[in-house]
Amino acid sequence: MENRPTVAVITGASSGIGEGTAWRLARKPDTRLILVARREDRLRELAKRLACETTWVAADLTEPDAPGRILAHAQEHHPPVNLLVNNAGAAWRATFADGGYENVRRTMEINFDAVLRLTETFLPMLRESAPSSIVNIASTAGRVSRPGSAAYSASKYALIGWSDGLHLEEAPNGVHVGLVLPGFIKTEGFPADELTGKLATRWMVSDVFKASEAVYETAILGKAERYVPRPYALIAMLKILAPSLVRKILSGGAGKAMTTSTGADAAEKKAKSEV
Ligand SMILES: NC(=O)c1ccc[n+]([C@@H]2O[C@H](COP(=O)([O-])OP(=O)(O)OC[C@H]3O[C@@H](n4cnc5c(N)ncnc54)[C@H](OP(=O)(O)O)[C@@H]3O)[C@@H](O)[C@H]2O)c1
Repeated sequence: MENRPTVAVITGASSGIGEGTAWRLARKPDTRLILVARREDRLRELAKRLACETTWVAADLTEPDAPGRILAHAQEHHPPVNLLVNNAGAAWRATFADGGYENVRRTMEINFDAVLRLTETFLPMLRESAPSSIVNIASTAGRVSRPGSAAYSASKYALIGWSDGLHLEEAPNGVHVGLVLPGFIKTEGFPADELTGKLATRWMVSDVFKASEAVYETAILGKAERYVPRPYALIAMLKILAPSLVRKILSGGAGKAMTTSTGADAAEKKAKSEV
């Protein structure tokens, strides 16, 4: 896709990896972007600053009419979309005993169900505009589960399993399906303060620039799977080769240190403090 015009939908473009991806794609010649998130003011400001033709749709992706509204917008304002970046996501930290099924449900709703619903809506267009790409932003938490983030891990394990099958199903139709698996990336939503605050764990946290480059490689250069940073692939391998060792490490201090608060947590704390 490197030498072809790109018309991309990026979800979760109002901050973090989604915003970084918009900046990265805008540097590619012949690119048009459709930004999606709930915070319209952020999308409007970003669209003004990007050096490519950019429009936006303010939408909560968990709402039933969101995929249809985004498709209608794309059909009205742009040539056929040939890249869908499913990036929007959230996490609410809680043990299962505390958060219960409701925490799993709301996490699956945005990290898994919303991705499938949007992909289903855009798939006919992506097939027509092939060669085209879908990039799903999963997580290394979709390979290794930690205490307090089992709901988040469940949603990302599901996303990875579904993406792997979809990759094989859509390859004959010219639709490339790629996965990006970030480790800890410092963003508004996933601040990783507990890790960046200590010298011993600071190295574990990467940045939006590297994550956006991984999305670019997957979307435009056709990579099937990309960890960010790359050494996080070793964690996934270790989980398969030495599962008891990984369990031992995570059940000790390391698992707790890595259970950092998330954007959804932060947003809720802010909302509560504003009440
Ligand atoms: N940062 C990390 O350490 C890390 C690690 C592994 C995986 N990831 C994954 O990377 C993706 C991006 O996360 P990030 O780190 O960039 O976090 P972020 O800065 O919090 O960005 C999340 C984005 O998703 C959007 N979003 C959330 N709920 C939405 C909804 N219901 N409808 C529409 N948009 C929604 C948010 O926009 P609005 O609030 O404006 O709607 C925001 O733009 C997520 O899928 C996350 O799971 C992140």
